[in-house]
Amino acid sequence: MSATTAPAVLILLGPPGAGKGTQARMLEEKFGLVQLSTGDLLRAAVAAGTPAGLAAKTVMDAGGLVSDEIVLAILKDRMGEPDTARGVILDGFPRTAGQAEALDRLLAEAGGRVTAAISLEVDDAAMVGRVSGRYTCADCGEGYHDEFKQPATAGTCDKCGGTAFKRRADDNAETVRARLEAYHAQTAPLIAHYQAMGVLDAIDAMGPIEAIAEGLGTIVGRVSA
Ligand code: AP5
Repeated sequence: MSATTAPAVLILLGPPGAGKGTQARMLEEKFGLVQLSTGDLLRAAVAAGTPAGLAAKTVMDAGGLVSDEIVLAILKDRMGEPDTARGVILDGFPRTAGQAEALDRLLAEAGGRVTAAISLEVDDAAMVGRVSGRYTCADCGEGYHDEFKQPATAGTCDKCGGTAFKRRADDNAETVRARLEAYHAQTAPLIAHYQAMGVLDAIDAMGPIEAIAEGLGTIVGRVSA
């Protein structure tokens, strides 16, 4: 990572279950960047019972998109924290044209721009299985899957040794289908936005997690050199 340029701003685009969170956490460790997931930030607001969280909860439970106003306020707060100075991996943001334009403006005000937007290309049909088999460590948030990514020792988190796990309220087949629809209607058009900016990359995200991580690592190493 160059120390002389503006902080890297990497965007992972992809439908629910594409592996954005899984890959963002691996890139975070490898490149010393900070994963910034608007889904996680919104779930924290819901858990804290803030006004934004209360407004977001019904929409999230139905698989729709939370308003740009709420998401942008949460995102700006988080991007202003000092640990993001080296660079961020945006996981689940932006998701609408309004969010993408607001991000471009925010970065331009600080003399920066999006470094790369990487589209994780997957088959929708496989995403329901991926999402409904997902669970995470209740202590550190490490992600697992009933079939595709189990802890090395059953019932114990590989990363922190925690023994409590949880599943998301919106990880059911019906809500995943609504989330897939929202992705194709409102988020997939952003691929053209980043292509026009000359920062778009794409990767086949249907293979094994480690192979995808290797391909992503090559892209991120190239764009942030
Ligand atoms: P969010 O939390 O962002 O959810 P999402 O986009 O639906 O994405 P997921 O977290 O479901 O999937 P992922 O791509 O991260 O997959 P993962 O790596 O976990 O958003 C939730 C809600 O919040 C939205 O519906 C919306 O309401 C709201 N929201 C959030 N951001 C917003 C915004 N900007 N604007 C408006 N509203 C917003 O992988 C899934 C599973 O598959 C895991 O178990 C994993 O182990 C497994 N897996 C991963 N890769 C592979 C692989 N290659 N092979 C096999 N299994 C794999």
